[in-house]
Amino acid sequence: MVTDLADLPVDLVGLHRLPGDTGAPQRLLGGGRPSTGWTLRYDGYDPGREGLREVLCTLGNGYLATRGAAAECQADGVHYPGTYLSGLYNRLTTPIDGRLIEHEHLVNAPNWLPLRFRVADGDWFSPDTGHLIDHQLELDLRAGVLTRVLRWCDPSGRLTRVQQRRLVHLATPHIAALETTFTAENWSGGLQVCTGIDGGVVNANLPEDAPLTRAHLHTEQTRITDHDTILLTAVTTQSRIRIAVAARTRVRDGAGHDVPVSRAPHSGEASFVGQDLDLDLVEGRPVVVEKVAAIATSRDPAISEPASAVCTALGRAGDFFDLLVTHERAWQRLWDLFDLTLDADDEVTLALRLHTFHLLQALSPHTAQLDAGVPARGLHGEGYHGHVFWDEMFVFPVFNLRMPSLSRALLLYRWRRLEQARHAARTAGYRGAMFPWQSASDGREETPDELFDRRLGQWIPDFSHLQRHVGIAIAYDVWQYYQVTADVDFLAEYGAEMIIEIARFLTSIVAYDPVEERYGIAGIVGPDEYHTAYPGARDAGLRDNAYTNVMTAWVLRRALDVINLLTGHHCGLLWEQLGISEVETRLWEQVSRRMRVPFHDGVISQFDGYGQLAEFDFDAYRARYGDLVGIDAILRAQGMSPNQYQLSKQADVLMLLYLLSAEELRDLFARLGYDLDGPTIEATVRYYLARVAHGSSLSRIAHCWVQARADREQSWALFLQALRADLDDTRGGSTREGVHLGAMAGTVDLALRCYTGLETRDDTLYFHPLLPTQLHALHAELCYRGHWIVVDLDHVRLRLLLRPCQAAPIRVDVDGSVHFLTAGDQREFDLAR
Ligand code: BGC
Repeated sequence: MVTDLADLPVDLVGLHRLPGDTGAPQRLLGGGRPSTGWTLRYDGYDPGREGLREVLCTLGNGYLATRGAAAECQADGVHYPGTYLSGLYNRLTTPIDGRLIEHEHLVNAPNWLPLRFRVADGDWFSPDTGHLIDHQLELDLRAGVLTRVLRWCDPSGRLTRVQQRRLVHLATPHIAALETTFTAENWSGGLQVCTGIDGGVVNANLPEDAPLTRAHLHTEQTRITDHDTILLTAVTTQSRIRIAVAARTRVRDGAGHDVPVSRAPHSGEASFVGQDLDLDLVEGRPVVVEKVAAIATSRDPAISEPASAVCTALGRAGDFFDLLVTHERAWQRLWDLFDLTLDADDEVTLALRLHTFHLLQALSPHTAQLDAGVPARGLHGEGYHGHVFWDEMFVFPVFNLRMPSLSRALLLYRWRRLEQARHAARTAGYRGAMFPWQSASDGREETPDELFDRRLGQWIPDFSHLQRHVGIAIAYDVWQYYQVTADVDFLAEYGAEMIIEIARFLTSIVAYDPVEERYGIAGIVGPDEYHTAYPGARDAGLRDNAYTNVMTAWVLRRALDVINLLTGHHCGLLWEQLGISEVETRLWEQVSRRMRVPFHDGVISQFDGYGQLAEFDFDAYRARYGDLVGIDAILRAQGMSPNQYQLSKQADVLMLLYLLSAEELRDLFARLGYDLDGPTIEATVRYYLARVAHGSSLSRIAHCWVQARADREQSWALFLQALRADLDDTRGGSTREGVHLGAMAGTVDLALRCYTGLETRDDTLYFHPLLPTQLHALHAELCYRGHWIVVDLDHVRLRLLLRPCQAAPIRVDVDGSVHFLTAGDQREFDLAR
């Protein structure tokens, strides 16, 4: 078992330094903050891991993100320069085997990066064919800047040093910039640079998408608008979203003075616009090429139209250095809110920061201005086609406690698709709102009917859309947001409607068994996607998934709470629109007390009949295949199915202990008429831990959480594995298709909420701290009901400081003792007691 991050193949460097002399005008930025644990660095060039590095070096601002791909390269199997815009989707249809397959994808937008170069009489430089002497990549998380330094020697022995700095502006979301400094080390002469915008990109990040139609863009116009500015506009083929990209390229000497260069339009493909610049390099004298790009779309608020918006934005954008200053300042403000200071290994600190960084690049205050959800793979690649799953449940807690306005905006993405979810429920013969397992532009079910099995090399049926628990996650998220913020207006205007319609849907899928006097749910799939049907059954779907049943009871109770809570809040119209009757609320009450929970051998059954499935020989398969991430495909290739075995992809029953405290869960079970005692919980945890393959990145998060008190060493090992999952690409090479955003957020949330034992329920802020022995102390700020609370924790004491403000006093429970804290209060709690 891995217990140390030290053997990561990437070089994680604690001390930030720029790799060598930049040659560019150097002005010091920021000031005085320690830089330990802020830099991710790769030495050398490794084409085999380039896709992974591109993802981990992605820069973004919640509006757009660009992979850390080499600017001189096109998509070619090694490099994949994707740029994605939050919430920007397009549908395409592909005829396959006489059928029409429709699919909606997050669109790979026109590429603003292209910057190719060659010594005047030579070939265009490529890291794959050129003779590289050095290659370094350094991602500065604090500043949000990617630096690349390379030196290459051409066939005539000419040595050239190239340094690039790149940013995607955090304060001005439409702007990105790339500064390239060329230094001829042992020669003087001409260097040609081609700066361009490529509208000919397609969605080609996933090998299994190869048979699909992949061209989502149609280039409308390409123009040179000014002597140093180029413009490309494109439109998505079906959603008809217009995208404009403009880029301004200027040349300066090492002292920052403009250098006149001759420019010619680059002739080539129709969907590419560019200029060829002829530079004169003098040995040892750096020349800086600065490319500033602007991107806008017809979905953006507060613009007239995209082409004029990008020209205006470029006209207002300063030079690279000005942009760097405001960019770094914006990152500093975000880090002030989100950075968790841990007294821990540098590697742990850095990995956690990297996760926070990518989370904030995928979702930022700029996302809140758009109609966008939480894409499972960030804005970093095309994994899961940019779709939105239940993973937001792992993401929201991080924002609830730091930037609740963003959670609110992301919940509105769901609320705007409520009508679609109502339609889906009606069409399927149910009531209320049936949210889709995979969601994208308009909230219809986007889960494909088939998924590509890479090992078998064929398409197989996909029943994952039967995961009706996605609505439970949405109701849970609304309730958590409310608990942290007490935002009654949100609840009254949006949240209540979602919770009630989800509750209504759940009561419409339950069936009553008069013999047992219990309600059950059949024909569904739980979070464990390895189980979609009973062995040999003709139809997909399982009976009484414990997680879904218990959480159904939980949602129904919340629906009743919401109605009580909003009484007197002018909700008459809403109640009338929703047509809630006493008969219905009585049914919710009744169902919430009589949902069935299956048990076998003294443990909760994942679903009815799980205990009768064959045991899986984990030892034999681990011995043969090592990691079991792709065990479902291995079994299929052997003519078997995970459906036959007690083998789970991820936490399913144990999700209950991840979402609810043991105390809350015991209450819920008691209300259902079951006794969930300590030994049953322990036996259940042991049982499923022995049967999980961790085939989902979310799995280790839930298991780490559940074990944080019971088995601290195992929990810590799981935490480290979760921290390295993307860094070391332990998920079967899938990180090159995007980060696993839910799992990244999950680690950040674990560090804050799990280790402080933080819960927000019953109008109380609970702390029940227990730091892992490997962490010596933790410092964070969090926002609860209008207060900013500074939390300092070590193994013997918890200190809380409420910053001065006007918010009402709050109820805080530390290890069972209740306190009312007022703004300005500082309290220290002795944990040893
Ligand atoms: C997991 C799901 C998750 C999805 C997107 C799947 O592998 O089983 O729980 O929502 O990935 O991250």
